[in-house]
Amino acid sequence: MNLLKGTFVACLCAATLIGCDSKKKDVTVSSVNETAEIVHTDRIADLSVEKVKTTLAYLTVADSFPRNISQGQKDWNLVGVTDWCSGFWPGVLWYAYELSDDPEIKAGAEKFTAPLKEIAYSPADNHDIGFMVYCSYGNGYRLTGNEEYKTVMLAAADTLATLYNPKVGTILSWPVMVPKIGYNTIIDNMMNLELLFWAAKNGGDKSLYDLADSHAEKSMQYLVRPDYSIYHVALFDEKTGKFKKGITHQGYADDSMWARGQGWGIYGFAMSYRETGKEAYLDTSIKLADHFLERLPEDGIPYWDFDDPKIPDAPKDASAASLIACGMLELADQVKDKDLKEKYTNAAKSLMEKLESDTYFSGDTNEALLLHSTGHLPNNSEIDVPIIYADYYFMEALLRLEKLEQNIAQN
Ligand code: GLY
Repeated sequence: MNLLKGTFVACLCAATLIGCDSKKKDVTVSSVNETAEIVHTDRIADLSVEKVKTTLAYLTVADSFPRNISQGQKDWNLVGVTDWCSGFWPGVLWYAYELSDDPEIKAGAEKFTAPLKEIAYSPADNHDIGFMVYCSYGNGYRLTGNEEYKTVMLAAADTLATLYNPKVGTILSWPVMVPKIGYNTIIDNMMNLELLFWAAKNGGDKSLYDLADSHAEKSMQYLVRPDYSIYHVALFDEKTGKFKKGITHQGYADDSMWARGQGWGIYGFAMSYRETGKEAYLDTSIKLADHFLERLPEDGIPYWDFDDPKIPDAPKDASAASLIACGMLELADQVKDKDLKEKYTNAAKSLMEKLESDTYFSGDTNEALLLHSTGHLPNNSEIDVPIIYADYYFMEALLRLEKLEQNIAQN
């Protein structure tokens, strides 16, 4: 299925993948750690692709997308195209195709990407257009070069840009929440800047770059706290642009550290550095990552919120872990210092090692790849269940690790 398997599995064992675990004891001590890690991730990548293919076979309606699996159930609960999570399933399929080169999976990815077109051409009602379109069309365009995908992405970027308020200098994240909480910008929104940066470089209006950069600047200024934890939501006066306060929506408390929010920040600022070269973004991502690592519990997977007083009996969030594994790998790509590269790569590998364990990797339990994510605990929804974006970032991290190992093998 991939280069790594050819290189390592062939020399370790000609038998089944499971047989590799016993064989690896035969290799020399100096190569054990590296080899064991690679074989493990490679086996999980195989299993993940297989599982995604099985799910694809029973999902027949292209405009219904997996979102979560209820406690005790095996099958995905499906949502429609306008749900903020609709882009993750086509994204999972594109990643599975990238890992496997399987034409059936590619056909599935195309099938589930197509319905998201309407998001690009409908009035913007939230910032999630980036998640929806970049994870689906973005990966599709990256892997196929299909010009129609590019057209949809450029339209989606323009649609997302309509939510930009020049007075505040950010994108309004949740228009629907304005009557209740006022003008709001959330940390999750950092991820959607990637669509704007991409569009500015690929035929879209150059102002999309400035708009994304301004959003990142303001997020850095107001959503990042002095201790390098993050507010979920920043509220602004939309007429004067003045920052009012930081609050939470999905976290435990306004001043608590919501795990996934920390992840959106780590990844979002590393990506913004990649796109702008602004050292302040890189420095912010580093400090957010370090703060996360300092507070990570001993078992290596974050609780849904680091300040929930119920810890250690609070639920975990595997989605934060897989997202942060990707953020750490993006950060490792961006830092120049060799020790820092190693530090964030190892942090990502450690998160992935835990996620690949029987505790988190679902195996035969249900259709998802990962168990134990927490979506919106204060709303009493999606608590300790599989959620599609956990799988999406898990697949992304598997791919990133595979590419990293291929580079090492080639150099
Ligand atoms: N973007 C919403 C979430 O992280 O749950």
